Amino acid sequence: MSHARVEAAMTPTGRLGAAPNIRAVASLQTPDWVRHPRLIEWVGAIAALVRPDQVLWCDGSQEEYDRLCEQMVAAGTLRRLDPVKRPGSFLALSDPTDVARVEDRTFICSEKRDDAGPTNNWVDPQEMRATMQQLFDGCMRGRTMYVVPFSMGPIGSHIAHIGIEITDSPYVAASMRIMTRMGRAVFDVLGEDGGFVPCVHSVGKPLAPGETDVPWPCNPTKYIVHYPETREIWSFGSGYGGNALLGKKCFALRIASNMGRQGVQAGGIGWLAEHMLILGVTSPEGKKYHVAAAFPSACGKTNFAMLVPPKGFEGWRVTTIGDDIAWIKPHSDGRLYAINPEAGFFGVAPGTSEKTNPNCLATLRENTIFTNVALTDDGDVWWEGLSEPPAHLIDWQGRDWTPADGKAGRKAAHPNSRFTVSIAQCPSIDPHWDSVDGVPIDAFIFGGRRSTTVPLVTEARDWVEGVYMAATMGSETTAAAAGQQGVVRRDPFAMLPFCGYHMADYFAHWLDLGHRLKAGGATLPKIFCVNWFRTDEQGRFVWPGFGENMRVLEWMLGRIEGRAGGIEHVFGTSPRHEDLNWNGLDFGAADYATITSIDRAAWQKEFDLHAELFEKLAARLPKALSLTKAELEKRLAA
Ligand code: OXD
Ligand code: MN
Repeated sequence: MSHARVEAAMTPTGRLGAAPNIRAVASLQTPDWVRHPRLIEWVGAIAALVRPDQVLWCDGSQEEYDRLCEQMVAAGTLRRLDPVKRPGSFLALSDPTDVARVEDRTFICSEKRDDAGPTNNWVDPQEMRATMQQLFDGCMRGRTMYVVPFSMGPIGSHIAHIGIEITDSPYVAASMRIMTRMGRAVFDVLGEDGGFVPCVHSVGKPLAPGETDVPWPCNPTKYIVHYPETREIWSFGSGYGGNALLGKKCFALRIASNMGRQGVQAGGIGWLAEHMLILGVTSPEGKKYHVAAAFPSACGKTNFAMLVPPKGFEGWRVTTIGDDIAWIKPHSDGRLYAINPEAGFFGVAPGTSEKTNPNCLATLRENTIFTNVALTDDGDVWWEGLSEPPAHLIDWQGRDWTPADGKAGRKAAHPNSRFTVSIAQCPSIDPHWDSVDGVPIDAFIFGGRRSTTVPLVTEARDWVEGVYMAATMGSETTAAAAGQQGVVRRDPFAMLPFCGYHMADYFAHWLDLGHRLKAGGATLPKIFCVNWFRTDEQGRFVWPGFGENMRVLEWMLGRIEGRAGGIEHVFGTSPRHEDLNWNGLDFGAADYATITSIDRAAWQKEFDLHAELFEKLAARLPKALSLTKAELEKRLAA
């Protein structure tokens, strides 16, 4: 690949000028497997703006991945782990200021401010395009610009969509090969005129001639920008996770949530892009169900997606389809079908252990990129919660670490340290995880992290009450996003940082979809709300969680089949102690009462918080939700 001497013009709006610049196109040395003039023109225009030293069109091959990794080892970005202990695996240590998603720097730049809604940051798109134009001007000097073609969802599936990410980070290019279906086959699907979501990413650290690079280039100025109407993503300044792997939160949630709703505006029924894991659960009799479950970031979604049924549940099987994102579309049989648009896991490492998630640990045995975990003296990785701490480690900032540091409160692994690994390596992988049609959803589960108030599990009486439960979810914040941890914030549908349009319109979209499917004669999935995180007076978790969550899952299936008992209360139906299967677990009625009690005073306060959210969204809040609130409050008072 020769140096790109590109001179294509960008309009002040950041879009392509009317006349393609043929010289620019030629100097890109486009491979002959790319036959899409509009795409080539766009790549030329971006290259002209960012002025990289060279352009590399990624083909997604193993050789290319290996080359990128070697190059990052030489640059100090990656360290190769011990080839016997952790074959094909690497450790990256990021800049200490670039460790999580930056929600306060994330923008939904819709044409109208009101369409982004009060829960998103908004800047006028014209103004933002001007800012982007300035920031990206020459921002890849001294670097290689990678053109990364990817499919969210099985290549060629009618549910899948294609994106092209331009990035100056080899870490991002390599990670995208793990996290998505990335490479040449995407161009076959695109042909000469297929649609794609253009994603532009830069770490924002151009190199002057002769300047030595740092292992993790980034920029203190960060912008994660979405233009929902034109379906574009621009990300500047961060190389980390959802800020930089643009197929994940930016495309598969913020842009795709818009696409799902735009489907209705175009006269269709629309679809859903959700922050949900998808799992299959098969009974000893061979009956299989699928559930999709939404939890805020770092609340154990990966653990739940790979659940190992506990003692007493012999013959049951849980299989994994996805751990983070679900695209859910109505099928001609009236049911909702879900695919996992991703092909890898970008999961939180701390807390992952043989006890909490043995399937995940087995997945990480090889071919994994770890970021910001600790390095052991024998070239392996370690994080808090994995095992007893070794006597010596190199911590996530490259410093010596001993258990005494741990006792003094210094973590060896960053709390938001991650693994990036192919889903295909997961021992609990579902045989249909890659199915082009997806899997039919029988139930939705919504769960927050709440030490008080919310009971272990509740089944909503109907779709509208289920939407209400999901809309008013609250959760104690975690390290997945930069900012304060441990405070309760409303996180509707676990989508607060990921919904790409007005949250009240999003509620309306859920209500409408249910309404239309029901009107068409469909049986809607049941909706459940769970909380694994209630604590006792000493602040200890009461519910053992992990594999034991199977007991709750089995009760849900019993409800779907109409055979499990329960007691109806203010918010819906919950199991009594005797309604759950306690085979193999000694969990007494007193403990059960601690995690299922409904405290009237606490709930009155909780409703005040629901009211705060609803006031914020009042201008567009669906009436059905305020009516439901009034109805529930009346029940609570009675
Ligand atoms: C994630 C998140 O990385 O939700 O999945 O933050
Ligand atoms: Mn997530």
